[in-house]
Amino acid sequence: MAKYTQKELASLGLTPMLPKHVGIIMDGNGRWAKQRMLPRTLGHRAAMDKLRGTIRLTSDLNIEALSLYAFSTENWSRPEEEVSALFDLLVEYFTRELDELHKNGVCIRILGDISAFPSAVREAVTRAHVKTRENTGLKLNIALNYGSRAELVRAAQSLCESALRGELRPKEIDEAALFDRLYTYGLPELDLVIRTGGEKRLSNFMLLQAAYAELYFTDTYWPDFSEKKYIEALKEYQLRDRRYGTVK
Ligand code: IPE
Ligand code: IPE
Ligand code: MG
Repeated sequence: MAKYTQKELASLGLTPMLPKHVGIIMDGNGRWAKQRMLPRTLGHRAAMDKLRGTIRLTSDLNIEALSLYAFSTENWSRPEEEVSALFDLLVEYFTRELDELHKNGVCIRILGDISAFPSAVREAVTRAHVKTRENTGLKLNIALNYGSRAELVRAAQSLCESALRGELRPKEIDEAALFDRLYTYGLPELDLVIRTGGEKRLSNFMLLQAAYAELYFTDTYWPDFSEKKYIEALKEYQLRDRRYGTVK
């Protein structure tokens, strides 16, 4: 993928001070469909078709990592037909897009516990991860059966197991040790979280990683979130004054 030069960035109204890690809570698919009197599942399909442009732009902008919230630990409580339609779409997406993503150097990581998913989904996402794991381009993280609280519980269990094995003392557990046990180990913290669909909440998405992220909320439903709108969000991000508790 061609990376934008500084001049090209300027023509988009952007400076090179881009976020290193962007998270997107892709919300509003159901309402997008309802507005068109379509079944909710067609909203999810339209959502999937939006991913290509979002991923390409993120990569072209040389942003290091993109984390997409695709299925939360709470989404199991949706009607069974909707959950199973989402699974079918995941298999379709990873099968259809894998070669293109791989060709473009994208490195896919799954955040969340996929062991609860049907085998076809597990196989498709694992294949995508294994095929692209050595790639050095955009780090693309797909949050599947992901919830920040479950992630924290898992990290606590892992730290306790290490302590019981005598590998570390409880006193040695610091922020770095905790972050190393999260699904996002090794990635920069989130700089920007975008939530489409009008709600102003995080819905259990990367609560620790977003501790100092800039939050951008838009009423636009995810299937309508164009590249132009993404650039608007990045422009707004560049206007924010990130103080991290200091005085400037
Ligand atoms: C987000 O869109 C996608 C998932 C949670 C899988 P929604 O399906 O939540 O759409 P709305 O919020 O009902 O419009
Ligand atoms: C958050 O959206 C989860 C995903 C986008 C995958 P939801 O639609 O599930 O969140 P709530 O229920 O409005 O908080
Ligand atoms: Mg929603």
